[in-house]
Amino acid sequence: MVMLDHSFLWLIKSSPFYLQEANRSGMSRLRCILRGLDFKSFLLLFVMVPTFIFVIYLHGQKISYFLRPLWESPPKPFIDVPHYYHENVSMEHLCKLHGWGIRESPRRVFDAVLFSNELDILTIRWKELYPYITQFVLLESNSTFTGLVKPLIFASHRDQFKFIEPRLTYGVIGGRFKKGENPFVEEAYQRVALDQLLRIAGITDDDLLIMSDVDEIPSAHTINLLRWCDDIPPILHLRLKNYLYSFEFLVDNKSWRASVHRYQTGKTRYAHFRQTDYILADAGWHCSFCFRHISEFIFKMKAYSHVDRVRFRHYLNPKRVQDVICRGADLFDMLPEEYTFKEIIGKLGPIPSTFSAVHLPSHLLENSDKYRFLLPGNCKRESG
Ligand SMILES: *[C@@H]1O[C@H](CO)[C@@H](O)[C@H](O)[C@H]1NC(C)=O
Ligand SMILES: *[C@@H]1O[C@H](CO)[C@@H](O)[C@H](O)[C@H]1NC(C)=O
Ligand SMILES: *[C@@H]1O[C@H](CO)[C@@H](O)[C@H](O)[C@H]1NC(C)=O
Repeated sequence: MVMLDHSFLWLIKSSPFYLQEANRSGMSRLRCILRGLDFKSFLLLFVMVPTFIFVIYLHGQKISYFLRPLWESPPKPFIDVPHYYHENVSMEHLCKLHGWGIRESPRRVFDAVLFSNELDILTIRWKELYPYITQFVLLESNSTFTGLVKPLIFASHRDQFKFIEPRLTYGVIGGRFKKGENPFVEEAYQRVALDQLLRIAGITDDDLLIMSDVDEIPSAHTINLLRWCDDIPPILHLRLKNYLYSFEFLVDNKSWRASVHRYQTGKTRYAHFRQTDYILADAGWHCSFCFRHISEFIFKMKAYSHVDRVRFRHYLNPKRVQDVICRGADLFDMLPEEYTFKEIIGKLGPIPSTFSAVHLPSHLLENSDKYRFLLPGNCKRESG
């Protein structure tokens, strides 16, 4: 604003009327120079200043993200628990490597999720965890976190999940549809309902409870280890590999929100924030925006808790979405959310492709024809 005032003053000083007074007897050459100046101030006021304001409007969010290390310090680092695994090593020895004993029988395991629309990822998740889960608990609402009406997508595709039907506790909750409310309020409301559904499913003390989003998939061997070993921490976060759009784009290895709890009646609450300092390394995969259809990307962009990130309508244009996916770029045109300049700069630009499809969920590789869009080199999505 200061800049605007100055240039305005400059314009008055060099306006044609002012010049007439000052240069009545002056040389025409000087007049020429001043005319030039006049043009420059015109340019400044009507071109440069609006351009500057427009650039701030377009990129203000990026500028503030880039400067984040100046105004926000990183959270306290986690204490990493080393994770040992090889398929040929006995469970007793694996527990011992972690400093834990082995139990006579494994704990029961409950996997509880809030479902939005991610059918393919849900299938891969449940097939991965199937051998070790006592009850699959799924809650679905007819409202997105942002208060949009959502069809009951799980209900209408329930017959695709016959393989878990005997172990399924499915709940539906009505949305509150409060206009203009922070999406995190609806999300918290749905998580409280999930606590009730878990009690209905029959969870009891010392059962294992997995708290994670549908797209945060613990590996089967991780859950098997935690159900067999004694003395594991009461709460343990899971460090997952972070993928975006498919298993072609490995962003980093830092996804941390998923957690496993030894259930305590009256104390354990379903949450998706940091709950302890301990985190188990290399415990699975987090595949964000891993959808089959372009329309699902667009739905998720609108339904998601950070809906403020859709700052321009063209972000939802299907051609743009497809192009962004193939480039490994950002759907919201944002900078990496990091706490040091080194990490921000290290992550600028598109995510490099990985050509490794080693150590992925087994159901994905066994059904590679069906899930080709999730494998390296297959970024083209189905429209509709
Ligand atoms: C796994 O164990 C079996 C026998 O118990 C052995 O034949 C095989 O070579 C082992 N594989 C690896 C990769 O160590
Ligand atoms: C959402 O579900 C609740 C409870 O099932 C129902 O009362 C309500 O009418 C539904 N709302 C919409 C918009 O479908
Ligand atoms: C993530 O960890 C794997 C090994 O598990 C490593 O190969 C890869 O380079 C790491 N990726 C990033 C982006 O840090």
